[in-house]
Amino acid sequence: MKYYFAPLEGVTGYIYRNAYQSFFGQIDKYFMPFISPTKNKGFTARELNDVLPEHNQGLTVVPQILTNNSEYFIGTVNELTKFGYDEINLNLGCPSGTVVAKHKGSGFLAQREQLDRFLKEIFSNTSTKISIKTRIGKDSPNEFYELIEMFNKYPLEELIIHPRIQTDFYKNKPNMDVFKDALALSKNPVCYNGDIFNAKDYRELEEMHPSLGAVMLGRGLIANPALIGEIKNNHAIDKEVIKAFHDAVYVGYQEILSGDRNVLFKMKEFWFYMIHMFANGDKHVKKIRKTDRLNDYEAIISSLFQDLDIEETLLRGF
Ligand SMILES: Cc1cc2nc3c(=O)[nH]c(=O)nc-3n(C[C@H](O)[C@H](O)[C@H](O)COP(=O)(O)O)c2cc1C
Repeated sequence: MKYYFAPLEGVTGYIYRNAYQSFFGQIDKYFMPFISPTKNKGFTARELNDVLPEHNQGLTVVPQILTNNSEYFIGTVNELTKFGYDEINLNLGCPSGTVVAKHKGSGFLAQREQLDRFLKEIFSNTSTKISIKTRIGKDSPNEFYELIEMFNKYPLEELIIHPRIQTDFYKNKPNMDVFKDALALSKNPVCYNGDIFNAKDYRELEEMHPSLGAVMLGRGLIANPALIGEIKNNHAIDKEVIKAFHDAVYVGYQEILSGDRNVLFKMKEFWFYMIHMFANGDKHVKKIRKTDRLNDYEAIISSLFQDLDIEETLLRGF
């Protein structure tokens, strides 16, 4: 099985990624949060810092593009090729209202003629490997059966499927019936993504689909960075390692961001997920949410690691 780290805009940037790799590793590919190209615009500072090779030493990383404009896609691929990237991922999954209103992300799934034309153009005009990360439809899971016929026309490096529709956002359960059909129907290699929060979820997936070759983990891995170690070797979570990992992320953000608030904004997002690992973490997380000074934050964190125990059974999704 190959293990991929899902892109989470705002969380899994290069600071997080590098710290994760130093303490946990075992990731076959890190997918980067999306780049959103527009006319005459180069990369934003965030996008550039994320893709710079010096910020990704020793990692296998795949940049992702969110667009419905083939010219922008091809232009961005050409820029990314100069940095040495040989696989680019297309985002057909983003459910956000503003993205969908512009017929991008999972909004593009409803525009099937345009999407087919787009795919034809990008596959004829690029030489990098292209993978797709998709939902199973915009308004109905039945859309998937037309979509898979379209995807089958192109030589995808991989088809990563999050088996929800756009209107689910992250509610409801992944549609495992459609995912099963996807595995049977896809001519391209398939990767599963969605709601793997603990080793039990993973085992169930593996039992259901023994032929599956790749799984992508997002929120579950951020909530429990040691999850892949547990899945592979039954390793228990080590609080000391989690603390050292936290410190590396925290120091990394302090090095690139100015002002307590900006650093804390990032750490609050980090704790939104990681607090699920600790029993009775409510009080601490409330304090983290309220603090706007690094000194106070550090005191809360040291009491959190001293007072709270890690409880894997808590990781049931959120
Ligand atoms: C805050 C947030 C940001 C995300 N950003 C991206 C993104 O930039 N690109 C993308 O393809 N998916 C993005 N996703 C979706 C995740 O990559 C993943 O598909 C989703 O969380 C389901 O997998 P999981 O249940 O393992 O978390 C985002 C999800 C969340 C919650």
